[in-house]
Amino acid sequence: EKGTYPHYMLKEIDEQPLVIRKLIQKYQNENGELTIDVDIINAVNQSDRIYIVAAGTSYHAGLVGAQMIEKLAKVPVEVHVASEFNYNMPILSEKPLFIFISQSGETADSRAVLVQVKELGYPALTVTNVQGSTLSREADFTLLLHAGPEIAVASTKAYTAQLGVLSIFAAVLAESKGHNLEFDLVQDLGIVANAMEVLCDAKEELEDIARKFLATTRNCFFIGRTMDYYVGLEGALKLKEISYIQAEGFAGGELKHGTIALIENGTPVIAISTQEQVDLSIRGNVKEVVARGANPCIISMKGLETEEDSFVVPPVNELLSPLVSVIPLQLISYYAALHRDCDVDKPRNLAKSVTVE
Ligand code: F6R
Repeated sequence: EKGTYPHYMLKEIDEQPLVIRKLIQKYQNENGELTIDVDIINAVNQSDRIYIVAAGTSYHAGLVGAQMIEKLAKVPVEVHVASEFNYNMPILSEKPLFIFISQSGETADSRAVLVQVKELGYPALTVTNVQGSTLSREADFTLLLHAGPEIAVASTKAYTAQLGVLSIFAAVLAESKGHNLEFDLVQDLGIVANAMEVLCDAKEELEDIARKFLATTRNCFFIGRTMDYYVGLEGALKLKEISYIQAEGFAGGELKHGTIALIENGTPVIAISTQEQVDLSIRGNVKEVVARGANPCIISMKGLETEEDSFVVPPVNELLSPLVSVIPLQLISYYAALHRDCDVDKPRNLAKSVTVE
């Protein structure tokens, strides 16, 4: 039930700190250490490459998860859109292992790939919110999101829970390979949950940002580099699906290769900067669009902020930054949709789970 909330989406955004705290508990053993079923870790350690297959928001979570796995566990990962993989299967490595990411566990495009993968005899792990769902039953292994039912069509808490599970998976895998983590993931996810709370309390500020940048615009661009690029893709998807503003996410460096032609006087460009390594370059990209008349909304992480930034998120482990930087984007989308009288929980033309290919 949505209780006193006007929309499920807002309720589910607010649940994110709790979901992350619950997730930590669910994946902790009696000594407080994070664990993943040893059969899963063994299967991954017998494979030579991970293929992540998913759709929509879950695909965006896969892009971030792949970075976490490669950076921490040093296992090569490819991320594929399920509907493309079906018809255009890449040349696979000798010993592939598949990870299907699906909130509902029912997405037909993902299932079609799983059916092929099982026919080929490869191991498959499903990361899902729904125990007993089709993708969970048909895969060899399942990792649950423990996010509670997600009712709003636009996925919010499932995305951050997917990132949480993938970070735990990456860390446990890394340890199994003898790679030393230079941080304590339990502690850092706790910091993330606290930061999420701060962000959920910034609704008025984020509503003002939505009003200032998105009230009348026809389109909006999101730019970022590395992790921030993937979050930008998710921010653009949220915005377009519930507010019907045409929104696109781009890698900061790709702008000048074409998209910059679309920038006009007043075009909102939401730039995300949470990664020290690319902070200067993304700010350079902001200057490029501002010179063409763009209305820049910079969302940065504490420590990298400058006076011109519109919103600053609390500092967290850089690898976990998407779990926090996505929240202002979710809330900005929510308020943009609200200001435009859109049906936030049930956007036109969309269904919660897409069970046709
Ligand atoms: C976006 C959204 C969709 C789903 C996609 C995959 O907010 O909800 O893009 O992410 O249809 O669904 P699952 O994760 O259930 O496979």
